[in-house]
Amino acid sequence: MYRRPIFAANWKMNKGPSDTEAFAKSFLNKLTGRQTSDIVIAAPFISLAVLTEALRDGRGIEVAAQNCSQFDDGAYTGEISVKMLREILVRHVIIGHSERRSIFGETNAIINAKMIKARQVGLKLIFCIGETLEERNAGKLESILRSQITEGLEGITAHDLEDSVIAYEPVWAIGTGVTASAEQAQEAHAFVRSVITDLYGAEVSGKLRIQYGGSVKPNNAAELMACPDIDGALIGGASLDAQSFYDIIQNGSPS
Ligand code: 13P
Repeated sequence: MYRRPIFAANWKMNKGPSDTEAFAKSFLNKLTGRQTSDIVIAAPFISLAVLTEALRDGRGIEVAAQNCSQFDDGAYTGEISVKMLREILVRHVIIGHSERRSIFGETNAIINAKMIKARQVGLKLIFCIGETLEERNAGKLESILRSQITEGLEGITAHDLEDSVIAYEPVWAIGTGVTASAEQAQEAHAFVRSVITDLYGAEVSGKLRIQYGGSVKPNNAAELMACPDIDGALIGGASLDAQSFYDIIQNGSPS
């Protein structure tokens, strides 16, 4: 089954509107040929409107938010609703990133509520899962991934999943410079796909794109993307520089 790769930049809490505009200009200047992968950029909320405007040139790069509220409009100080994101033409939302889980206390239930809310307005999900080093060393890799997937996707339909990707990001590989080996990543991706097969059947799981995230760089992208169950990447640090994000896409995309 052919799956078009999808590369997404996750800038985290970096780049205000002016840095965002400069990045978009520089990145678009590099993207001259035909692209064989989908490209998404997840900017901080305050930079999203500038980014959607800067990328409106028809080359198909889509914009993602890094989070959303699980609530509708109302008395939720500091939150951003999914309707607001749609209003400024945001297409995707990252939900369940390990930094949201560990620093901001998001549980599988909160993550699930956000995913349901995002789908109500048609936002495409970038659903992040991954184990800590302690969990991996304790032999809990599969049970952690299975519960994150099962609880996170409660009420999410096969149709919703057609518009979504799962990002497998081992927590120990995020921002550490320690990438999962291609074998470790492939093994986890194959397991994630098997859980999706259990829940939704082989047709849905065969179509689902699963991104790898965690210290992806221009020099390791090709090896990771060559693995049969890895269908793109979610890139943090190395996506902050237009050249390095571009190089990852070029090195990891089919020719
Ligand atoms: P790094 O690429 O900086 O390791 O971050 C990965 C990540 O968390 C992307 O969401």
